[in-house]
Amino acid sequence: MDNKIALITGVTGQDGSYLSEFLLDKGYEVHGIIRRSSVDYRERIAHLEGQPHFHLHYADMGDSMSLVKLVGMVKPTEIYNLAAQSHVQVSFDAPEFTADVDAVGVLRVLEAVRTNHLEKTCKVYQASTSELYGKVEEVPQNENTPFHPYSPYAVAKLYGFWIVKEYREAYDMFCCSGILFNHESERRGETFVTRKITLAAARIAQGKQEKLFLGNLDSLRDWGYAKDYVECMWLILQHETPEDFVIATGVQHSVREFTDLAFRHAGIELRFEGEGINEKGVCVKGPDSLIGKTLVEVSEDFYRPTDVVNLWGDPTKAKAKLGWNPAKTTFEQLVKLMVEHDMAKVASEGAAAKVTLPNTSKREL
Ligand code: NAP
Ligand code: GDD
Repeated sequence: MDNKIALITGVTGQDGSYLSEFLLDKGYEVHGIIRRSSVDYRERIAHLEGQPHFHLHYADMGDSMSLVKLVGMVKPTEIYNLAAQSHVQVSFDAPEFTADVDAVGVLRVLEAVRTNHLEKTCKVYQASTSELYGKVEEVPQNENTPFHPYSPYAVAKLYGFWIVKEYREAYDMFCCSGILFNHESERRGETFVTRKITLAAARIAQGKQEKLFLGNLDSLRDWGYAKDYVECMWLILQHETPEDFVIATGVQHSVREFTDLAFRHAGIELRFEGEGINEKGVCVKGPDSLIGKTLVEVSEDFYRPTDVVNLWGDPTKAKAKLGWNPAKTTFEQLVKLMVEHDMAKVASEGAAAKVTLPNTSKREL
């Protein structure tokens, strides 16, 4: 294909920023959708703004008209629909908004393609999720594992998955879902558990925070590196036939293991004692001022009404059909790179950034 024009919804997010870099390197003209907000939060893509092949446009997943107009103007050859209210806990607090953006939003994108008669020239990638497996019915999970969504977010994403499949079958469109397991990075939002932990470990190590409060430490995830996962989004659209793929590392760890390793990289060894809500992480090695102190506590505030606790992906199909390497960045490398990034970030913030009272309010997530 000579004409490579990508339209990315969710361009300001973790994945959108890495995908933009990836596609620009491949010679694409990249267009991204941003939405108006009272503060201009484009930190993740600031380094791309001003590049001749990178363009930003205002639109919103809740506004069909803006999507139809933009798709008609840009005439993309590939759309990557990454925009979403992507926080599972927030979906319990704002279920209707989540459904509008994460479910009906997908339909709006597909209809924008049809309205502009681009069905035969524009492929669509849908950011689907391992949350569809929810209250898991099989471990590990592959493309044939039954779905059992277990949050308003997952239920909305299930609609997105099925409407993509429906448009593929009804209108012969090249549209596919990547069922991606958790992927993290130094650009991960600060209220997702991995980034919450790496930032807290860095702040505690540098005397800027006293304690970290977490929810379910037993929860198991298959964590990969976001930079490796955006390649897969592109590979899925380059495959000869439109198909859905599970993207995962095939390796599973608990929130406790992530916490333990992150603190180690920040120079602190923890011993976990107690169980459930009474479990604590006590410092047994590290700066003298921290020895014997409880640095990690469990708080009920961070438990979810229904929690997905056993995600473990089987990436066999992606390996075989897309030639994708799920072991490019290991769990250990991922934790290390996130902590190293946050140690430097926290050091550059200065003393004013000290978190004096550890916040256990739900707003922290
Ligand atoms: P993220 O960092 O939360 O980014 C979400 C993006 O969606 C942001 O750019 C956000 O814009 C945009 N957005 C939200 N509501 C919008 C609206 N109404 N109109 C236009 N844009 C809107 O998420 P991510 O981690 O990059 O994930 C990307 C996608 O993959 C999401 O769909 C997520 O559900 C899915 N997913 C993620 C993972 C993971 O582990 N990261 C795994 C599976 C699936 P603002 O910057 O303006 O808020
Ligand atoms: N956020 C958060 N904060 N999660 C915590 C905490 C805490 O203090 N303590 C324990 N957890 C547990 C959650 O209950 C969940 O079981 C697990 O850590 C991971 O939570 P998150 O990092 O918030 O991510 P998620 O798995 O719910 O959702 C992410 O991954 C999905 C793919 O499986 C998001 O990126 C979704 O958009 C994505 O679809």
